[in-house]
Amino acid sequence: MRDLKKKILELQKISEALEPNEEERNSYFSEVNAYANRFINNLPKTKAFSNEQASPDAFKISNEQKSIKAILALYAKEIASKGINAASGGHLGYIPGGGIYTSALADYLADITNEYVGVNYSSPGGVAVELELLDWMKDIFGFPKSAIGNLSSGGSIANLIALTAARDKHSIKNDRITKSVIYVSPQVHHCINKALRIIGLEDVIINHLELDGGSRIIPADLQAKIDTDIANGLNPFMVIASAGTTDTGAIDPLDELGQIARQNNLWYHIDAAYGGFFILVDSKKEAFRGIETADSLVVDPHKGLFLPYGLGAVLVKDKEAVYKSHRYHANYMQDAVSDDSPLNPADVSPELTKHFRSLRLWLPLQLHGIAPFIACLEEKLLLAQYFRNRLVEIGFKVGPEPDLSVSYFWYPTEGDTENEFNERLLQEIHKDGDVFLSSTKISGKFVIRMAPLSFRTKIETIEKAIAMIEKVMQKIG
Ligand SMILES: Cc1ncc(COP(=O)(O)O)c(C=O)c1O
Repeated sequence: MRDLKKKILELQKISEALEPNEEERNSYFSEVNAYANRFINNLPKTKAFSNEQASPDAFKISNEQKSIKAILALYAKEIASKGINAASGGHLGYIPGGGIYTSALADYLADITNEYVGVNYSSPGGVAVELELLDWMKDIFGFPKSAIGNLSSGGSIANLIALTAARDKHSIKNDRITKSVIYVSPQVHHCINKALRIIGLEDVIINHLELDGGSRIIPADLQAKIDTDIANGLNPFMVIASAGTTDTGAIDPLDELGQIARQNNLWYHIDAAYGGFFILVDSKKEAFRGIETADSLVVDPHKGLFLPYGLGAVLVKDKEAVYKSHRYHANYMQDAVSDDSPLNPADVSPELTKHFRSLRLWLPLQLHGIAPFIACLEEKLLLAQYFRNRLVEIGFKVGPEPDLSVSYFWYPTEGDTENEFNERLLQEIHKDGDVFLSSTKISGKFVIRMAPLSFRTKIETIEKAIAMIEKVMQKIG
């Protein structure tokens, strides 16, 4: 017994390092805070992209102890200055996030108190925060209060939860899989295809719908395809629309698609991961008409509400459909599981243990109110217009008027060298890195995308982008 106690005390001495005292905590915190301030203050001067690779040996794990200063120096050199600077307003590629400061404070708090928000029993307050945010979103998107939802790590998992519910509601399993049809736009985000594979629907029939000139689904084509598929003995069961496609920000005709879905008893899913929160801008409300008719909806606060990466959301009207795959009982959970009021987030998601991620949205909304978020969204829409106008002024062609903030452009050249020229242009833009843009192909044509969405993207950023493009154009002649 004495030996046992001695050994325990020895180990305690070593493991005490995991509980720094207040003085040590203050010292760590002030170093990290100083770094954070330097990083944010320098953002306007920092490149938005560097294609330098991280040094493979930089992050080796060993028993060697390093100072917080040394770790932060390594962080600055090997992490924060390589790749896309996603905190920069100059990130105009793909779908930028943002990373508002007050979310970081929420993450800090959530990690300190380490709330376990998978089940209500363990953190009634933490779960209430998640449920309040979901109710707020139900109001925004016209979903009934009886709908359920979940705050996930991002849009991919949120889409997976919704598609699983659709699968279970329509009992798509065994022999039915290869006869069942899902209708999607060719522009649907690839996380949908990935989710289908993960949930065992790889062999379902994917029927791609025709698009109009603005890359939006043509509703009549959906009805025509459903009729043909039914005539061929198939089982149409879901249509997926996008409210803001990744490539061009297009919003499908949500209302008409919803009507067709209802008439044909299809599950109607809308992926609004990128575009959804633009509904808060008065001038855009009409474009989202019909979003309330969806059976399930995905939005991403880490896109449209400028949060740091790590927060997506799903709303689903049919609670039982979600429970079918996600609700489990286990003996070791018998104290935790009572009835389902309030709802346990673990019953709506593949996750059991869950980071208190709702705080990173709730705390900023409490501190700032909603108005700055809406203003920031409207500002992005106008910045996209401003960018397009400036590009036209300097000789570029631009894609059709965008529904939201994503758009594309290219430089017209003589003969058939246009794609090569624009590819080269993008390579040079990446080498420069002042502002980051990405590219895509629209009907086989190589185009450069712009996606103003970061809260730090300002009119100065757009002028910087134009200056960079002009500089690079001169360079490549
Ligand atoms: C329309 C759309 N859906 C889904 C996703 C996937 O979301 P996440 O990257 O948060 O998993 C994205 C990501 O850009 C997207 O643009």
